[in-house]
Amino acid sequence: MSKLKIISSTTREGRAGVALEKWITQYAKDNSNFEVELLDLSIIKLPFMDEPKHPSLQDYQHEHTKRWSAKINEGDAYIIVLAEYNFGFPAPIKNAIDYLFKEWMYKPVAFVSYGGVSGGLRSTQMLKQVVTTLNMMPLSAQVNIPFFGKLIDENGEFHPNDIILKSTDHTLSELEKWSNGLKLIRNSK
Ligand SMILES: Cc1cc2nc3c(=O)[nH]c(=O)nc-3n(C[C@H](O)[C@H](O)[C@H](O)COP(=O)(O)O)c2cc1C
Repeated sequence: MSKLKIISSTTREGRAGVALEKWITQYAKDNSNFEVELLDLSIIKLPFMDEPKHPSLQDYQHEHTKRWSAKINEGDAYIIVLAEYNFGFPAPIKNAIDYLFKEWMYKPVAFVSYGGVSGGLRSTQMLKQVVTTLNMMPLSAQVNIPFFGKLIDENGEFHPNDIILKSTDHTLSELEKWSNGLKLIRNSK
């Protein structure tokens, strides 16, 4: 079974991303053929990138990098639950990406983005450019959630509307296609 890793983008105390991550993790478990795991950067707590050698060498010095490498290496596809900070991507997700290189290669990544009026679209466009350097395939299918706060109840639970559900189904289906296709490239190396 292909493995889907869902990765958070923010780590601050009281962050809203938790509600969206919990929701998309459960939704993907119930509505896709992936084996799904949530990788919460606020729990994983990577320091600022501190490896002395370029990640492409995979000669990691630190246990936190070895653990992160093993988790990302397992994945066949990724969803980044992406906030927008100052019209760009939050630093924790860029830091987590920069730690590794080959572990990301030839794998698809989709974005569930959230924010105010833009719903995290500006952040997504910026991060798409970064992930192409790692030979990842950023999907055009995405889940975009403007004014996300209106869809989170007092218990911190996210309630998607029909538009969000439709785009989520499409995104999961596209991720499966790309995941299967890119396995051919990875296996041909
Ligand atoms: C430092 C900072 C910068 C922000 N900049 C933006 C922004 O550019 N666009 C936007 O839509 N929301 C912005 N917001 C509001 C966020 O969408 C909102 O706080 C959201 O909850 C952030 O995700 P998080 O709670 O998981 O950290 C910003 C929030 C913070 C803390």
